[in-house]
Amino acid sequence: MTAHRFAPSPPLTGRIRVPGDKSISHRSLMFGALAVGRSRISGLLEGEDVLATAAALRAMGATIERDGEDWVVDGVGVGSLLQPAQALDMGNSGTSTRLLMGLVAAHGISAAFTGDASLSKRPMGRVIDPLSLMGASFTPSPGGTLPLMMEGMQPAVPITFRLPVASAQVKSAVLLAGLNTPGITTVIEPVPTRDHTERMLRGFGVTVDVEDHGGERVIRVHGPADLTPCDIVVPGDPSSAAFFAVAASVVPGSDLVIENVGLNPTRDGIFRVLDQMGASIEKLDERLVGGEPVADLRVRHAQLKGIEVDPAIVPSMVDEFPVLFVAAALAEGRTVTSGLDELRVKESDRLSAMAAALIAAGVTLEEREDGLVIEGSGAKPIRGTANNRTQTHLDHRIAMSMAVAGLASRDGVEVDSIDPIATSFPNFMALLAEAGA
Ligand code: S3P
Repeated sequence: MTAHRFAPSPPLTGRIRVPGDKSISHRSLMFGALAVGRSRISGLLEGEDVLATAAALRAMGATIERDGEDWVVDGVGVGSLLQPAQALDMGNSGTSTRLLMGLVAAHGISAAFTGDASLSKRPMGRVIDPLSLMGASFTPSPGGTLPLMMEGMQPAVPITFRLPVASAQVKSAVLLAGLNTPGITTVIEPVPTRDHTERMLRGFGVTVDVEDHGGERVIRVHGPADLTPCDIVVPGDPSSAAFFAVAASVVPGSDLVIENVGLNPTRDGIFRVLDQMGASIEKLDERLVGGEPVADLRVRHAQLKGIEVDPAIVPSMVDEFPVLFVAAALAEGRTVTSGLDELRVKESDRLSAMAAALIAAGVTLEEREDGLVIEGSGAKPIRGTANNRTQTHLDHRIAMSMAVAGLASRDGVEVDSIDPIATSFPNFMALLAEAGA
């Protein structure tokens, strides 16, 4: 565990470029592995979570290599994944676990999934349930968690599944199983979640129908599907950019450009909420990269004001609440959030982890069952943590959020470990230094 103290920061300035989108990076490797032939990926996030996906796909027969700045994947084709010889170690990554379980479910192979202490606490029942309906069988640990063994079913049975939780991971697990299932596999999404799976599968030549039925999205894949290899450009991760957008908003004097930020409407909620709070975020050079809307963001310091966050926006910023809480702690007035039950089952219980971390840093807040109510400090820096270390619970986003809090504090913030940051944002510390923190 590498503890680190984040000191009060001078203005953040200049231009930085955040690494590739984590969700798109996982899917690039998986879909490349399911295509017959070679796909080339540029801008792949080389974080530990994505590398766990790469290792698992290699163990099931795909060839995945770095080639200069790019990555190349030689896929085995849908239906041809090999039985892995050893347990698949998913590290900290829920996305790797749940999406790969979907892939294995419709192949005639079995696989064991293991993960770190954080991942081993996270619920897998949400994917076990639909994949069992498709014919796969599972032996999870008590409580439906990792480590688990699973046996895929070939041929699997197509299902129509309504998502009981707003989760792109569950949606994607079912759709990926559908790729090797004869017939039409249907997922009904009462609340739209990130749509990278649907967009990218189309790019790989798969027919994916999406219809709106009275506000619900009905998504169908036709299996068995053939994936055509393709070249992918991964845009910068809005979830990573969010830390710098909040940091530049709350550190006085900042004027920072964050280049190449993905702004898919199912992901950009944080920027809309910061806008409502009075942030100064200008979109420059709006364009399409790899079929996704992208812009450079110029973020200048601004006095934020507290707001009531509409729970309808939650799925489009589900990973950004920890850093939004930091923005709220420095805003003028009260910020109320609700509808955040899912935050309790992320890499940590992000409501209780952020509540404890912010209270220890001198912030006044109330933790509710499904959200936090935060009293902003107005223009003043928060106190910081003079004598105690923030517990990050193996959660990269708690570590980075409290890093941002430290930049806008009086005494600095010490976190117990910056190691988890490498799961999603390996050059976070280097970019902070580059921006002048
Ligand atoms: C992800 C979906 C989200 C998100 C995670 C990545 C994805 O999880 O929290 O970081 O790539 O599909 P849920 O779909 O479970 O909310």
